[in-house]
Amino acid sequence: MSGIVIVGAQWGDEGKGKITDLLAERADAVIRFQGGNNAGHTIVRHGETWKLHLMPSGILYPGKTCVIGNGVVIDPKVLTDELDELRGRGVDTSGLRISANAHMIMPYHMMLDDAGEARLGKLKIGTTRRGIGPAYADKASRIGIRVQDLLDEKILKKKIVAALEPKRLALRPFARDPRLDLQAITEEYLAYGRRLSEYIADTTSLVWDKLDKGDMVIFEGAQGALLDIDHGTYPFVTSSNPIAASACIGSGAGPKDIDEIWGIAKAYSTRVGSGPFPTELHDALGDDLRRRGGEFGTTTGRSRRIGWLDLVALRYAARLNSLTALVVTKLDVLSGLDTIKVCTRYRGEDGAEFDTFPYHQTVLHHATGDYVELPGWSEDISEARSEEELPENARAYLRFMEEFIGVPIVLVSVGPGREQTMWTAAGRATAPGQAVPAG
Ligand code: GDP
Ligand code: IMO
Ligand code: MG
Repeated sequence: MSGIVIVGAQWGDEGKGKITDLLAERADAVIRFQGGNNAGHTIVRHGETWKLHLMPSGILYPGKTCVIGNGVVIDPKVLTDELDELRGRGVDTSGLRISANAHMIMPYHMMLDDAGEARLGKLKIGTTRRGIGPAYADKASRIGIRVQDLLDEKILKKKIVAALEPKRLALRPFARDPRLDLQAITEEYLAYGRRLSEYIADTTSLVWDKLDKGDMVIFEGAQGALLDIDHGTYPFVTSSNPIAASACIGSGAGPKDIDEIWGIAKAYSTRVGSGPFPTELHDALGDDLRRRGGEFGTTTGRSRRIGWLDLVALRYAARLNSLTALVVTKLDVLSGLDTIKVCTRYRGEDGAEFDTFPYHQTVLHHATGDYVELPGWSEDISEARSEEELPENARAYLRFMEEFIGVPIVLVSVGPGREQTMWTAAGRATAPGQAVPAG
C-alpha cells in the first residue's frame, strides 16, 4: 500500500488529526490537500496538546515530510505563527514543503468573509471567518495570488491590483483600513515569501517520487463530507471538496495512486455553524454530551451542535468517498447512557421516508430522524485497549454501525490520547505498515 486518504465522514472534527498522527509514524509523507486554517486538528501526546491549523498532522515526527498541497489555501501569518510555535516547543519542522501553486489568503479575503456573513444576517453560514470562501472564489476567478507570486515583487503587486479591482464596491466599508494599502500588503506578503522560501517546492513531483517508490503517503483531509461544496448541505458548506476524490486534485497524485480511503466518524454527530442537522439534540442530553466530549471548536472556540449518530448521512459519505475502512472515535463519550439512539432513516415534513440522503435542500431542512434504540453501557471505557475489553453493548453498537454502512471498522478511539486507541480484528488484518500494535 502506498496512498492512503484520511477524510472526515461527517461535518468535521471527527478526530482526523489524532488518527493521522497515529498512522503518520509509519508513513513517509503526510499531505494536506484542501481547506485552510478553517481546520483545527488536535493531537494529544503524552498529555501534551497540539492544535494544528495548516500544518499536516505528521509534523510531530522529527523531519517527517509534511506537504501543504496545491489545493490548500494558506494564510501566511497563521502558517508562520504555527511554525514559530512548533519550533518554540522543540519540534523539528525541516520536513515541511509548501506547494508553489497553493493559493494565498489575503487580508481582503478575511474582510469579505466578515462582510458576507454580515450581509446574510440570519441566513449566515457561520463560517470560521478565516477568508476561506473568498480565497477559493478568487482562485476560481483566476485572480488568486499563489505562493510562487510571493517571490517576485513586481508580479505580486500587479496581481494584488488585479485582485482588488473587482472588489472595490464590496470593500468600500474598509476603504480606510490600513490593511488594504497596496504597498503595505505587498511588503507584508514579500516578507512572508522570504520567511517561507526554504519550504517552497514542486510538491507534485515530490509526491509522485514517493508514490512511485512505493512509499506510504497519507493524504490528510480537512472538514468532512457533509461540508463538501458539491455534495454537502449547500450553501451551508465550506468552499472546497473535503471528499477523497479531492486528494488527487489537491496534490497532483492520480486516482490510481490511492489504495485505501479511511473515513473518520464520531460515535455521534456534531456540526459547527448553520445548516441542516436532522439528528440534532436540543435538550439537556445534548448539553451533557457537548460537555463530556469537549465539543468546542478548535479554531473558533464555538460550541459544536450535538446530535445522535446519523447513519443515513454516514452511508452517503461512505459511498461518496469509496471508503475502504471506518474509524470510530469518541466512543467513550457515549458511556453511561441507558439507551443510545441511531438514525437509520429520515422523515420529511409530509411524513415521506428517506433511506438515502435527500438531494433537495428543502427536504433536508425539514427532515427528522427515525431511530433504532440500542442498549447503552455504564462502564468507563477510556482505558480499554482491545475490543475484548469493551462492554458487550459497546461492541454491539460498533457492529450495528459497521453492518449498516457496509464498511469494516478498523480502529476505535476511546479518548484523545494516542494510546487510547484499539485496532479491531479487521484493522489488524489490513492496517498499513507492519508495526501494528497487538490488540
Ligand atoms: P479533527 O478536526 O477531525 O482533527 O478533530 P478536532 O481535533 O477538531 O476535534 C476532535 C476532538 O476530540 C479533539 O479535541 C480531540 O483531542 C478529541 N478526541 C479525538 N478522539 C477522541 C476520542 O476517542 N475520545 C475523546 N473523548 N476525545 C477524542
Ligand atoms: P476540521 O478540519 C468543522 C464549517 C464552518 C461553517 C462552514 C463554512 O477541523 O474538521 P468556512 O470557514 O470553511 O467557510 O466555513 O464550514 N467548518 C468546519 N466545521 N470542522 C472544520 O474543520 C471546519 N471547517 C469549516 O463552521 O459551518
Ligand atoms: Mg477540527
